[in-house]
Amino acid sequence: MEQKDDLLKEVISHAKEYGFVFPSSEIYDGLSATYDYGQLGSELKNNIKSYWWKSMVQMHENIVGIDAAIFMHPSTWKASGHVDAFNDPLIDNKDSKKRYRADVLIEEHIEKIRQKANKEVEKGRKKFGDSFDEEQFRATNPNVLRNTNKIADIEERMRQSLGANDLVAVKQLIEDLEIACPISGSKNWTDVRQFNLMFSTELGSVAGDASTIYLRPETAQGIFVNFLNVQKSGRMKVPFGIAQIGKAFRNEIIARQFIFRMREFEQMEMQFFVRPGEEMKWYDYWKDHRLKWHSSLGLGQENYRFHDHIKLAHYANAACDIEFNFPMGFKELEGIHSRTDFDLKQHEALSGRKLQYFDPEINQNYVPYVIETSIGLDRMFLAIMSSSLKKEQLEDGSERVVLNLPPALSPYKVAVMPLTKKDGLPEKAREIINELKFDFTCQYDEKDSIGKRYRRQDAIGTPFSVTVDHQTLEDGSVTVRDRDTMEQKRVSIEELHQILRKRTDIGQLLKSLQK
Ligand code: GAP
Repeated sequence: MEQKDDLLKEVISHAKEYGFVFPSSEIYDGLSATYDYGQLGSELKNNIKSYWWKSMVQMHENIVGIDAAIFMHPSTWKASGHVDAFNDPLIDNKDSKKRYRADVLIEEHIEKIRQKANKEVEKGRKKFGDSFDEEQFRATNPNVLRNTNKIADIEERMRQSLGANDLVAVKQLIEDLEIACPISGSKNWTDVRQFNLMFSTELGSVAGDASTIYLRPETAQGIFVNFLNVQKSGRMKVPFGIAQIGKAFRNEIIARQFIFRMREFEQMEMQFFVRPGEEMKWYDYWKDHRLKWHSSLGLGQENYRFHDHIKLAHYANAACDIEFNFPMGFKELEGIHSRTDFDLKQHEALSGRKLQYFDPEINQNYVPYVIETSIGLDRMFLAIMSSSLKKEQLEDGSERVVLNLPPALSPYKVAVMPLTKKDGLPEKAREIINELKFDFTCQYDEKDSIGKRYRRQDAIGTPFSVTVDHQTLEDGSVTVRDRDTMEQKRVSIEELHQILRKRTDIGQLLKSLQK
């Protein structure tokens, strides 16, 4: 589609025009960083959820799902560390009055240096052609080496200052790197301060500290507090997992970039409980498995990369992100974290209850270690929309806008269209829908020319359009048009079910995960 900068704008306007995503409470001019999913958006979102849920719960004998409450006992957040440590280091530019996350400013600076080094590598590739050895070039070219060393230095300083919560050192780093405000261009910064991201509210009618509760900032804690309930009632044996999909809330200071960073969003999280000492094996397993899940959607291997965390969260002993090439560049889509036994031990300490597992194989009681996979549903939605939206030049010189959604996730799997509104064709089209609707989401469309109707279906990502014409009444055959190739072929009505199933069934995606 357009230049990358324009792509996000195109996605936002396409999403609104076709009923995928609307600004929330738009009639009141909207509420910042809050969005509503429309009629097609909620279908797409449900399909993403279903693919995730089935791949986790249905495909793993040892993973079960739960649905915990959003409100939790306030001690939960004390135990998890969110009351004391769920902060963002913020810094303001005194001239533009804009507020930034200090760590993000530094990471963006690092990314610029990395791009310089990559440019140099591309120059080398052009110069040396087939004999180019990237690894050797990176290890020997002075410009690349200088930039690589610079990045390592900055990352080390960032790791140390953020790790020690030394906010003076974080500010010093920003000043030493001469980072300027992207709006004012000035380097006139305030001190760095910590800001807690949890939303709080009051329970019942009593005000005061005792009744303060939080909107959960992650779904994971609902899993931890239910660890024993699920283990005992489900007779689960370590290693086993608990999955959950649900809303989470964070008072993000810099909430922007459409549904990428919102204050109310949805997470799909899975906690996998393992024997202590085996966590790294499972960490690698889940990294691999989650990347496969993404790859099977066909959004392009080149659009994913792993990024190891520089600053580990307070609960983790290893952590990485799966980053996606969003219209704004590579950004976090999913986190994979080795959370140790931190959460369960903390809940033991604050609740006074034992949260241990007796492992019959080694005859020992222990608090399991946890590997977590955590993906933002809204970010996944954006990744799919932004990589699927294409503008294509056709052979006849015209242009079409097509949403190449993975067919299994498309809101509608098929549109059924009578060629004309008379001669019994609408009735025949509805008859076909009445057969298909039990297994596939179908749309009936009789308005405008067939060409216009095809374009409408292309724009909302419907993988198949079926046209009913006079021949249909004679021999029971219809024309099936493929969204991606635009090829049309004549098939019998009886074949439709199988054609649709083959391309649009989530089961096919799930099978590809087993390979
Ligand atoms: N339980 C671990 C956890 O919450 P996280 O990295 O803070 O880890 C996990 O969040 C995922 O949730 C992220 O990778 C991202 O996809 C999504 N996410 C986090 N904050 C978000 C926000 N403000 N808006 C949309 N998605 C968000």
